[in-house]
Amino acid sequence: MMAILSNLAIAIGLQIVLLTVRLVSNRRRIPLIPVRLPSVAIWLWLILSSLPDSLVVLRLRPWLASALLLSQSYAALQLLVWCTLEVPSSLAWWPRPPKILRDLGMLLVAAVITVIVLQEQAKINVVGLVTTSAILTAVIGLAAQESLKDLFAGIVLQVDSPFQEGDFISAGNGIEGWVVSLTLMSTRLQHVHGALITMPNSKMWSTEIRRFGPRGPIAREIHLNLDLDLPPEKATTVLTQVARANPLVLSDPEPTAFVYAYADHAITYELEVWQEDPTDNGFDVLRGQLLAQIWYALERAGRTLPYPVRELRPKARPAAIDDPAGYDLPSRLDLLRQNVLFTHLSSGQLEKIAPLTRCLRYAVGESIIVEDDRGDALFQLVRGSVEVIKRMGDGSTKTVAQLGVGAIFGEMSVFSDLPRSASVRALQECVLLEVERDDLRPVLEGNPRLVEELALLVSERRAQLTSLSQEVRQAQTNQLIDQMLKIFSTLTGGNPDVRPG
Ligand code: CMP
Repeated sequence: MMAILSNLAIAIGLQIVLLTVRLVSNRRRIPLIPVRLPSVAIWLWLILSSLPDSLVVLRLRPWLASALLLSQSYAALQLLVWCTLEVPSSLAWWPRPPKILRDLGMLLVAAVITVIVLQEQAKINVVGLVTTSAILTAVIGLAAQESLKDLFAGIVLQVDSPFQEGDFISAGNGIEGWVVSLTLMSTRLQHVHGALITMPNSKMWSTEIRRFGPRGPIAREIHLNLDLDLPPEKATTVLTQVARANPLVLSDPEPTAFVYAYADHAITYELEVWQEDPTDNGFDVLRGQLLAQIWYALERAGRTLPYPVRELRPKARPAAIDDPAGYDLPSRLDLLRQNVLFTHLSSGQLEKIAPLTRCLRYAVGESIIVEDDRGDALFQLVRGSVEVIKRMGDGSTKTVAQLGVGAIFGEMSVFSDLPRSASVRALQECVLLEVERDDLRPVLEGNPRLVEELALLVSERRAQLTSLSQEVRQAQTNQLIDQMLKIFSTLTGGNPDVRPG
C-alpha cells in the first residue's frame, strides 16, 4: 500500500512538473513542452506498478510490459527532441532543422524502438515477419503508394524550399492562401476567406507555385482605355496622381503609367501599382477603387471615358487595273488615246468611241480569238500578254508573235471581213479594251488616213503570216483599202469609189 502511495505521489509530482514547464514555456513564448504522451506514460506506469501480480494473467505480462516501455520510450523521445532541438532553435542557439526531417527522424527512431521492444519484451520477430511475408510487403507497398508519393514530395519540398510557412502562395487551380504548415504528407494553406485547405504534398510538388512572400508587396497591372484626344502625357499624369493618392497603393515602388496600345476608338494605358495585400480579393478592391477614382479625376479634368466612334470614308473607285469593271469612261478614253491606231483621231472623235467600248478580263491560257471564227471586234491589250498562234498545213501549230501591253489584235477580221487569221491566247491574266467594228464607223467617217494606216497594219501582219513579197504586199494593201471602204461604206457618204488621196 505504501508503495502505491509513493508511486502516486511520484506520478502527481511528475505531472505537476510537466504542466508547470508548459505554463512557463507558454509565457516565455518558447515551443510548448509535449504533455500528452509523457502523461500517458506516467499514468500507465502508475496503473501497472500498482496492479497486484495475482490480477495480471501470465500471458499478458510481456504485452503490458512492452506497452509501458513503448509509451515511456516515445515520451522520452518527444522530450528529447523538445529540449535538444525545439527550445534551442527557438532561442536561436542553433538553426531550426526542417520540420519534415525532424518528424521523419522521430518516426525512424520510434520504429526502431518499437521493433526492439517487441522483439525483446514480447518475443515477436517483427523483422523476420515483415521480410518473410512477401504478400504483406506487396499489400503494404501498394496501399502506401500514394502516401509514399506524398512523403517523398514533402521531403523534396522541405529540401528545395519553394515556399516557407507564412508565405502567401498561389498553387494553380485557383488555390491560394498563406502556408500554415508543411507536414510529412500534406501542406496546409489558410485561404483568404478563412478556410483551411489541405493539399497532398505530391500535388503541391507537381503544380505550378507562385510565391508572394508573407505579405506582398505585389505588382498589379490595370489596363484601361482613355480618349484618343487626351494627350498621353496628360493621361499618364492623371493616372499616376490618382494611384499615388490611394492609401492601398504603396509609394515605393512608385506607381507608373504608360501607353500600352492603340485601340479602335481609344488609347489603352497600363497603370502599374504595388500593393501590400497579395490576394485576388485585395486586388479586386484596389482596382475597383482606382477605376472609380480615375473616372472622377477625368471629369475634373474636363474629360470623359471614350465611347466607340466610327469614321466612315467613301471609297473612291480608282481605275483599278485588277478590276475591269473599274475602268470607267475617263479611263477607257485615256486608253484609246494611247492606242497607236488612233493617234490621228481628234479628242472629239475618241470621246465618241469611248462610251461604246468595254474592258474584259481573260484568265491565263484562255483563248481570246479562235482561228477561222468570224470576228467583228478588235482588242487593245491593257494588261498582260498574249501569243498569236497559227495552224500549219500539217496540222501542227506555230506561235507567230507575242504581244504586250498596248498592242492591237483582231483588227484583220474587223477590217477585211475575213475569218480570224490566227488564234490568240492569253499568256498571263489579261485585261483587254474591246472595240467593235460598228463602233468604229463614226470615227472612220472622214478619216481616210486612218483607213490607210489600218490597211497597212493588216497587210503587214498578213505578209508575216504568209511570207509575201513587197510587190504582192502593196497590191494586197490596195485591195484591202478597197475592201475596207466597202465595209465602212458610210466613210465617204456611201460612195465606195472615193479613195484616200
Ligand atoms: P484577226 O485575223 O482578226 O484575228 C487573229 C489576229 O492575230 C489578227 O487579227 C491579228 O490581229 C493578229 N495577228 C495575226 N498575225 C500576226 C502577226 N504576225 N503579228 C501580230 N499579230 C498578228
